Amino acid sequence: MSKMEVKTSLLDNMIGVGDMVLIEPLSEDTFIENLRKRFEHNEIYTYIGSVVISMNPYKSLPIYTAEKVEEYRNRNFYELSPHIYALADEAYRSLRDQDKDQCILITGESGAGKTEASKFVMSYVAAVCGKGQEVNKVKEQLLQSNPVLEAFGNAKTVRNDNSSRFGKYMDIEFDFKGDPLGGVISNYLLEKSRVVKQPRGERNFHIFYQLLSGASDDTLKKLKLDRDFSKYNYLSLDSATVNGLDDAACFRTVRNAMQIVGFMEDEVQSVLELVAAVLKLGNLEFKPESRCNGFDESRIKDKNDLKEMCELLGIEQSVLERAFSFRTVEAKMEKVSTTLNVAQAYYARDALAKNLYSRLFSWLVNRINESIKAQTKSRKKVMGVLDIYGFEIFEDNSFEQFIINYCNEKLQQIFIELTLREEQEEYIREGIEWTNIEYFNNAIICDLIENNKNGILAMLDEECLRPGTVTDETFLDKLNTVCAEHQHFESRQSKNSKFLTDHSLPHNCFRIQHYAGKVLYRVEGFVDKNNDLLYRDLSQAMYKANHSLIKILFPEGNPAKVNLKRPLTAGFQFRASVGTLMKNLLTKNPNYIRCIKPNDKKAAHIFTDSLVCHQVRYLGLMENVRVRRAGYAFRQAYEPCLERYKMLCKQTWPHWKGPAREGVEVLLKNLQVAAEEFAYGRSKIFIRNPRTLFFLEEKRRQCLEDLATLIQKIYRGWKCRTHFLLLKKSQVVVAAWYRRFAQQKKYQNIRSSALVVQSYIRGWKARKLLRELKHKKRCEEAVTTISAYWHGTQVRREYRKFFRANAGKKIYDFTIQRIMQKYFMGLKKTMPSMSPVDKSWPARPYGFLDGMHQELRRIFHLWRCKKYRSQFTEEKKATYEEKLAASELFKDKKALYPSSVGQPFKGDYVEITKNPKYQKLNSLVEDKVLLADVVSKINRANGKGAPRIFLLTKKSLVLADQKTGQVKASVPLLDLSSVSVSTQSDGFFALKLKEGSTSAAKGDFLLSSDRLIEIITKLHRIGAASAERNQINIDISDEFLVQFKQDKVCVKFIPGTPKNGNGVACKRKNNRLLEVSVPSP
Ligand SMILES: Nc1ncnc2c1ncn2[C@@H]1O[C@H](COP(=O)(O)OP(=O)(O)OP(=O)(O)O)[C@@H](O)[C@H]1O
Ligand SMILES: [Mg+2]
Repeated sequence: MSKMEVKTSLLDNMIGVGDMVLIEPLSEDTFIENLRKRFEHNEIYTYIGSVVISMNPYKSLPIYTAEKVEEYRNRNFYELSPHIYALADEAYRSLRDQDKDQCILITGESGAGKTEASKFVMSYVAAVCGKGQEVNKVKEQLLQSNPVLEAFGNAKTVRNDNSSRFGKYMDIEFDFKGDPLGGVISNYLLEKSRVVKQPRGERNFHIFYQLLSGASDDTLKKLKLDRDFSKYNYLSLDSATVNGLDDAACFRTVRNAMQIVGFMEDEVQSVLELVAAVLKLGNLEFKPESRCNGFDESRIKDKNDLKEMCELLGIEQSVLERAFSFRTVEAKMEKVSTTLNVAQAYYARDALAKNLYSRLFSWLVNRINESIKAQTKSRKKVMGVLDIYGFEIFEDNSFEQFIINYCNEKLQQIFIELTLREEQEEYIREGIEWTNIEYFNNAIICDLIENNKNGILAMLDEECLRPGTVTDETFLDKLNTVCAEHQHFESRQSKNSKFLTDHSLPHNCFRIQHYAGKVLYRVEGFVDKNNDLLYRDLSQAMYKANHSLIKILFPEGNPAKVNLKRPLTAGFQFRASVGTLMKNLLTKNPNYIRCIKPNDKKAAHIFTDSLVCHQVRYLGLMENVRVRRAGYAFRQAYEPCLERYKMLCKQTWPHWKGPAREGVEVLLKNLQVAAEEFAYGRSKIFIRNPRTLFFLEEKRRQCLEDLATLIQKIYRGWKCRTHFLLLKKSQVVVAAWYRRFAQQKKYQNIRSSALVVQSYIRGWKARKLLRELKHKKRCEEAVTTISAYWHGTQVRREYRKFFRANAGKKIYDFTIQRIMQKYFMGLKKTMPSMSPVDKSWPARPYGFLDGMHQELRRIFHLWRCKKYRSQFTEEKKATYEEKLAASELFKDKKALYPSSVGQPFKGDYVEITKNPKYQKLNSLVEDKVLLADVVSKINRANGKGAPRIFLLTKKSLVLADQKTGQVKASVPLLDLSSVSVSTQSDGFFALKLKEGSTSAAKGDFLLSSDRLIEIITKLHRIGAASAERNQINIDISDEFLVQFKQDKVCVKFIPGTPKNGNGVACKRKNNRLLEVSVPSP
């Protein structure tokens, strides 16, 4: 089952009764007893109808958790046990859903828990309203404004450790969805006298203590402060610390909160500087200094604090110093400067301190407002939370208490107006049967205070403005005359003789019987505090400060804007602002939280009957219950009522034609609501019991559910139908497409199957045919082969005899013939040239032809040579014969031979026939000259050569002088026995003569010629050709003997040494040896 469906009620598990309306019997005792019982069970909240009574538990209870918030969220007021969250939820929901601006009025005396209650309300609303980045920031700023204002505006009093010393009204603004947009805070009269003086057992405002305990050493140094409280006159020492309160931690919280709210770092610094300045100011002390005119003039005792303060605020020290010693009075354009005495100086100092602090406080509120103000200009829904200083009675009550209590008086008035009087008057107006209930209306007390003509505040203002000496006593005198007859005013000096002997009433006091009890006010200071005077010199000094914040706080110090008019009095301002507040509250739907403190000791678990009883009385709670019990819990005009519930009855649903009242009557009758549960007024229906209303609401909810179900049903039906139709249409399309697709697929399947079958059959047929054809072909081939073989066999059988004989040889011959043919044809093409010296010959093609190939080569060569020879002439033939003979003689025998091969054997080298020089010689020679040349005749004695012409004929050889041609010797060839030559390349030859011949007398000839080969060859051939003589012997040896006259000399050929040069050198070594050195080739 969901949470919303759990049926719970205020009556479930109830301790005592949760709603005082249900108490039985109703008396003050049972009332208090019920409160006590519930208090003892930690049930601190109790209802009187829609009013919440809150008892201060003085201890933290686990009833403000997130789970609790969820529990109370969107639940009916009476559905769960009483809680402040139920009220907050009710207020928030009617703001959001019914567009009614709300205000939450929290009342009760000091310490009863108003501030706490206001915070719970705010945090609940913050928890249940919309979420989101922007919204959360707004919420956070709204919530965090509390610690800042509490630090500066709350203080410890004897009644409350965290007593609000200012009134606060906060409008939280929402958009149409119920999301917070921002807020506006209004503050009411701060109790600024506390800055300079605190009653015994009380403290100055928290911020002073928090700053000194919580600020870092560095910050304190900057602010020129000392951590020690005792250093400051303005801080009371006897109660400087509060149990269970950590000032240092609070300071951190405050700084953090300031940051969240949107204070700039330099703004925070300025604020702290001002707080420090106030502390410094308190330390200024004055001493009198006599002047010549007999008056005392005040002087500052120790200027150190003044100096530091001036440094902090950027004020010129002398200016401030002067402002504490002189005062300028301006009247009709005239300036008169008077001196201040010590008392006046102290007065001025305190006035400055109070003003500085209270203006700083107002600036803080404005600054916060700037941060939290809604950003849109669209219409906003507003929930106001009023947390004002509670009604208080001290031992010593002054102007502040008077103002505070006046404010509470006004709030009580509004409560009475709205819950008691207004309600009863409405019953009468509406013609509902009603027995009047007596209650105390405090309008008379309000009148005593605020009446424009003779109210106390008006009196005070009058006194303040009156020329002449005005003192607190003159003011009291005035009161005594004007108010003497008032029932709620008591004074010893009044004309009312009743109090003449009342010793509880001192002379300088007056007493007012407030709704919440009698309070004795000491008249001292009333005039001053109401005037709230600050010497202009001081405000001007402040304005001159070189400190941005101070300058803003003292605008009247601007010399350009001097205003000679008296400023409005404090009382007047307060009265006006309370008036506006009341008007504002009256436009909103009120929700009440009435706070009660259970004891005076700030202790948990103590329930002081008398104290509670007193509060119950003056808060008029009993009357409240009585009116509630006698009256009706709920009322509503007929039209909206009918409009809201008309669906509960067939006749009125959906339209009622006729007056709304009748419609409502029909409706209620139809619903069978008991007759005593409602009454018909003139324009409204009155419902006695909330339960009846809940019954109607429940019915309506069910009905709405049914209607919703019906709408849902029809909508779903329609939706399903359209969906179905769409599906159907789609189905047809899909089906058509599918069928087409399926048929296509089927067709393709069949087609491909047919193709497969076809192809198989065709394949099978083709294979069969192929097989047959193959078979046929094989048969044919077989037949052919067989027949071929058969024919072959036949033919071979027949022709075998022709083939066998000579077949091989024939084939061989034929082949050889072919090969030879080819060989010769090839040879013909590759024949070498006809030159006998050409050694080339084609390669042989076949190995077996090698012999023939070589033979052919030889034959060819011979034939070629023969051919070559056949071309020779006779002459050439003879030459070649000579050459041949030379070769036979000398080849491989003499080294000179190779050089002769290339030389043509010319024979006549000296042109013997033609040269005239040799004509004589020629004529001497009978035969034909076969050879004529110049040779060298070697001298026998020294081996040196001398040129001689050598002539050879068929018969003889002749040696003649080369120049003259004279014959030196002529030797017939017959005398010649042999010729000796060396094996070497020299041209030496010895012609040896036959012993005993005529020629031999002179000895052998040793000659040298380059043409040795030709000479010897020719000589040899002559011998061969003639028949008459023997052939000449030719000795070839490197050592031979030569006959010189008688001696035989050995001619020896030795290899030449380099010394001999390249030429052949011949030397006679001794009688028997002639050495010829021949250079090696
Ligand atoms: N619901 C609560 N739960 C726990 N403690 C509470 C509750 N309400 C009040 N208190 C305690 O009582 C003290 C005084 O409450 P609070 O400051 O709200 O009183 P107040 O009515 O605002 O007084 P004043 O008129 O002096 O400002 C709180 O500091 C807190 O300790
Ligand atoms: Mg408070």
